[in-house]
Amino acid sequence: MTPSRRRKKKSSSSKAGPARRRRPDRSRSTIPSRTAAGRAPTPTGQIQIDLGALRRNASALNSLIGPACELLAVVKADGYGHGMIEVARAGLAGGATRLGVTTVAEGLALREAGLGCPILVMGVMDEAEAPDAVTHRLTPVICRDSQLEALTKAVRTTTRKPAAIHLKADTGMGRLGLPPEECLSLLERARLAPELRVEGIMTHFAEADAAESAYTAEQLDRFRALLNRIAPNRPERVPFIAHAANSAALLTRPESRLQMVRAGLALYGLLPSPSCRGIVELEPVMRWTTRIAHVRRLPAGRSLGYGRTFTTKRPSLIGLLPVGYASGYSRLLSNQAFCLHAGGRAPVVGRISMDLTMIDLTGHPMAQIGDEVVLLGQQERDRVTAEELAAWAQTIPYEITCSAGSRTARRYVESPMTGRRG
Ligand SMILES: Cc1ncc(COP(=O)(O)O)c(C=O)c1O
Repeated sequence: MTPSRRRKKKSSSSKAGPARRRRPDRSRSTIPSRTAAGRAPTPTGQIQIDLGALRRNASALNSLIGPACELLAVVKADGYGHGMIEVARAGLAGGATRLGVTTVAEGLALREAGLGCPILVMGVMDEAEAPDAVTHRLTPVICRDSQLEALTKAVRTTTRKPAAIHLKADTGMGRLGLPPEECLSLLERARLAPELRVEGIMTHFAEADAAESAYTAEQLDRFRALLNRIAPNRPERVPFIAHAANSAALLTRPESRLQMVRAGLALYGLLPSPSCRGIVELEPVMRWTTRIAHVRRLPAGRSLGYGRTFTTKRPSLIGLLPVGYASGYSRLLSNQAFCLHAGGRAPVVGRISMDLTMIDLTGHPMAQIGDEVVLLGQQERDRVTAEELAAWAQTIPYEITCSAGSRTARRYVESPMTGRRG
C-alpha cells in the first residue's frame, strides 16, 4: 500500500480548567490506574483519541444516509479499542441516535455512564441476563425462543413494561440469526407476548466489503423477501426498524440502508476496503505514539533479536521502542512495518518481542532517546494508517485498533477539522 502524504494535523488538547490543587485532570485525559480495558499507566506510549474527528465522522455518515435513516454507532469491544463511553458520547453528539454493543455488560456500562439512548445488544444474550437487560432498557437481539421466555418472565417480575427486542434473520452470514422462515414464526410468537415489543428486524452481511461480489445483493434480496412477508407488497412499510448495513454496505450500497445503518469502522475514520474510498470524507480517530527508549550503534553483520531474522547490512543506528506484542504491536509486524520518526519512515527490524521493538534509524542520524515515534497516525507530512498496519500484519484494520496500545494510557483530544480523507 502506498504511504499517503497528508497535511499536518494540529491537535489541541481539550480544555481543562485551572487546577487549584495538584490533582490529575481525569475529565478528558484518561490515565487511570485501572480502566474498563484494564489499561495501566505506563511510560511506554500514548493512544490519542480525537473525539472531534469521531463526532465529525458520525455527522458525515448521518448526512450521507439522510433524515429517513437512523445511525446506530457500533461501540462494542471498547469502541473498537478507542474507549466505549467516550466514543459513544461523541457518536451521539455527531447525530447517532442509537448505540450497538455485543454484551449486556457493555450495555450496562453505558447506562452506568449516564447514556440514556436506545442500546442494541447485538451478541447472544444469555437467558440469565434478561432481568438486567429489561431493568436497564437494553434492547437484545433475539435468536431463540428461550430468550423470549426469559425476557417475558423478567418483564413480569421487574418493570411490567413491554421490553423492546430486535429479531435477527440469517440471510447468508451463517453465524447468528434464524433462517427467514423460522424468523417469521419467532416473530409471530413474540408479537403474541404483551410483555414484548418487536421494535426491529435485522440481518448482517458476510462480505459487503467485496465490491465485485453478488452475495450482498442476494442477502439483501432474501431480507427484502422476508420484509415482504411481514408487510406484503410494502416492505418499506414494515412496522419495525429494518436494518442490515454495516460500514461497507452503507458506503457502497445505498439500497441496503433501509431504516437504519449500523456503523462501526467508518465511525472511527477507517475504511473496510479500498472500494469504500471517495464516498464520504472521514478522519482517522486513533493515533498511537511511543518514545525511543534506547539507541545502539551496531556494525554491519550483526544479527538482531529472537530468531536472528534480521542482520545489519551496514553500520547501523538501531532504536529500541518500549512496546511489543504485549502492548498490541503484533509480532506479525516484525520486519514488515514502518513507523514515523522526525517525519520520516523507519522500518521495524528483527522480531518484535513481548515488550520491545527495534527500528532502523540509520537514516535518522539525529535520533535520540526520548524522541517521539508514531506507530499509528500522523507525524508531520506522513501518516501510518490502520489499513497499512493491517496489510503488513496480514489482518484487518478492526484488529489493529482493537489491540493497539492494549496497555497504554489513552488521552482524549478535540482537534479542529484537518485530517480528512475519503
Ligand atoms: C451485527 C453487526 N452490525 C454492524 C457491525 C459494524 O460493522 P462495521 O464495523 O464494518 O461497520 C458489526 C461489527 O462487527 C456487527 O457485528
